[in-house]
Amino acid sequence: MNNKPIGIFDSGIGGLTVLKKVIEILPEEKYIYYADIDNVPYGIKSKEEVKKYVKKAIEFFISKQVKAIVIACNTATSVAINDIRKEYTIPIIGIEPALKPAIEKRENKKVLVMATPITIKEKKLQNLVKKLNATEVVDLIDMPKLVEFAENMEFDSERVKKYILERSNIYDLNNYSVLVLGCTHFPLFKKVLSQIFPSEVQIIDGSSGVANRLKDILEKTNMLGNNKLEITYYHSGILADQESIKKYNRIIN
Ligand code: DGL
Repeated sequence: MNNKPIGIFDSGIGGLTVLKKVIEILPEEKYIYYADIDNVPYGIKSKEEVKKYVKKAIEFFISKQVKAIVIACNTATSVAINDIRKEYTIPIIGIEPALKPAIEKRENKKVLVMATPITIKEKKLQNLVKKLNATEVVDLIDMPKLVEFAENMEFDSERVKKYILERSNIYDLNNYSVLVLGCTHFPLFKKVLSQIFPSEVQIIDGSSGVANRLKDILEKTNMLGNNKLEITYYHSGILADQESIKKYNRIIN
């Protein structure tokens, strides 16, 4: 048993969609959630910049003596996880687009992956598509503005609908049976996305995979906690204000 906290990190509120899943299967833990609001959005920055932000967040968690770290951000995972894992011995769990389950579910239609520009461009995703022999059946689309909408808590306005429709217009949505949300901010738009995509399209994300992986690691290393659930929110290293805490709790409840 280990009652130290678990660190969860994203550029902003997106990682809360992962935290929500993690809490469902690991309710007896203390969590430190780090939203890097000084630097959000990550998805349109350079790789080097994002790597620097990730390093800062990891150092913050180390100073808080966490027992494990979840990088609840596809963008940060795709550019930084390999380097970070070489540097630290603490368990670090990343998130990547749930492409494998999508391919298994797709039947005779295609898979559309929606993510940030960095995640779409990075080798990590391109290699995953190749490894799964899925180049012919997977299309990729970036939706950077959704991150901005989410940070402003704008999830189902006409502007949001218009943006998604205009961006996805390059593809015929009837060709897909699975939509993969490859950015942790995007599950916040599930309602609108399910209105825009044909009703048979399954919308999936990687959060349960991360939650299960974390539980598995904590079990195997004898590090599960038996705490009363506790979440402390930080904004780029500074304790979050009451108004933000209320907002975050609304998202995870
Ligand atoms: N939520 C993040 C992701 O999963 C990053 C969004 C951003 O900051 O651009 O990719």
